[in-house]
Amino acid sequence: MLNDAKQALASGAVEAKKHNISIVGLGKLGACMVAAYASKGHKVIGIDIDQSAVDAINNGQSPVQETDLQKYISENRERISAESTYSRAINESEITFIIVPTPSTETGSFSVDYVKSACTEIGKVLKQKTGFHLVVVTSTVLPGDCENKIIPVLEESSGKKCGVDFGFCYNPEFIAIGSVIHDLLNPDLFLFGEFDKKSGDILEEFYSVSSNNGARSVRMSIPSAELAKISLNHFMTLKITFANMLAEVAQAIPGVNVDDVTEALGGDTRIGKKYLRGGLGYGGPCFPRDNRAFAAMAGLRGISVPFAQITDTYNKSIIDRMVKILAEKTGPEDTIGIVGLSYKPGTGLCEESQGLIVAKKLAELGRKVTVFEPSGHYHAKTLLGDAVSYCENLDALLDKADLVFLTNWDRNNLEIKDKVAGRKITIVDPWRQFPNGSFSAPAIYLPLGRN
Ligand SMILES: NC(=O)c1ccc[n+]([C@@H]2O[C@H](COP(=O)([O-])OP(=O)(O)OC[C@H]3O[C@@H](n4cnc5c(N)ncnc54)[C@H](O)[C@@H]3O)[C@@H](O)[C@H]2O)c1
Repeated sequence: MLNDAKQALASGAVEAKKHNISIVGLGKLGACMVAAYASKGHKVIGIDIDQSAVDAINNGQSPVQETDLQKYISENRERISAESTYSRAINESEITFIIVPTPSTETGSFSVDYVKSACTEIGKVLKQKTGFHLVVVTSTVLPGDCENKIIPVLEESSGKKCGVDFGFCYNPEFIAIGSVIHDLLNPDLFLFGEFDKKSGDILEEFYSVSSNNGARSVRMSIPSAELAKISLNHFMTLKITFANMLAEVAQAIPGVNVDDVTEALGGDTRIGKKYLRGGLGYGGPCFPRDNRAFAAMAGLRGISVPFAQITDTYNKSIIDRMVKILAEKTGPEDTIGIVGLSYKPGTGLCEESQGLIVAKKLAELGRKVTVFEPSGHYHAKTLLGDAVSYCENLDALLDKADLVFLTNWDRNNLEIKDKVAGRKITIVDPWRQFPNGSFSAPAIYLPLGRN
């Protein structure tokens, strides 16, 4: 049925159905979903308990910093609105996506309290609403959470039955901060777990007109989708860690360049090149916590998953190794300059960023540390305070520093080559961004992982 519908759409024989949808949570992911799906012609009502996010959307402003978000909001304003309460949004939409935080707990699991609270409010409106409504959880949750903790809240507060009076899907997104809108509109696939076939059909129909690349839907049970989401990020951390381990080993063997080794490995299609580049460890709001959650989730079932634990331990050990290298290459009076505090280029977010933790640890050792994050210090300052000094730009940092540590693989770093010509300065680069011979004495270049 759906394939016929897709063919008819592709041939232009029928006009794509536009939906009325609501999105609960206007944060880093939710605000982008609002703008991306409005750009595909859907009418979107956002809901957030934070009045400032609601006001921003209603004033045509982006509530969070993200590439292209402001442009997409501005271009699609007539189809976008927001509310701080649920009634109009649920009544005037057919599908509600929930994308609120699921913070890590002390045991490494995820709390679904925000999701449950959103479901309580959605259920209250569904109680009065006639007609079928599909609820879709997009927040990252762990296997069993939807069926054991979330659907029961919807059923209780609505007094209705899931699969009969309303539908339910678990539909995680695979996006990266910095390219959220692009990733939403050009996914490799749409993955979702469906409570029943009708729920899955509605979501598949929505997605059949919601991407730029005609991505296919991959449908499965809800717990399978929950496990798939958390496994994907766990696998990414494994692959990154493998490349980082190769870089450490390569560093110890004369004549080895880790990039040649990963190029050869990644050229084998069974392995693939993406995320296979030795450098600093992973950080950010997803990889570290999803990896730990995988271990916690398995542990609760009495299963030991050593890869998740080893990956986490090895990832943290990279920080100590870098601190040791930087401390050994400098004297106590030298200033260590850290370029890049965010967990990846193009965002100022520093959650679990290795560059930021290295800066913090060096400062705790009493070393003089000066920093420059090209995307701004707004987040870094909340985590580092006055333990370090902040530079307005790269030139200011290079003026102060005796050693420079390049934490991110960032094309902006390439300017450094000309700026340090003729200066006595050491550049430590775990990403090997410059070819051999790029620097000459008195500057010293240390590309970690390449001898
Ligand atoms: N940020 C990422 O890279 C990423 C990637 C994949 C998955 N996720 C998952 O997406 C979810 C959301 O992440 P985020 O980064 O967008 O979070 P965020 O903190 O940026 O935004 C969440 C928003 O939800 C709002 N909110 C909280 N409770 C609410 C409620 N009951 N009703 C209405 N609004 C409510 C908050 O006010 C906030 O604006 C998490 O589960 C996260 O794990 C995030």
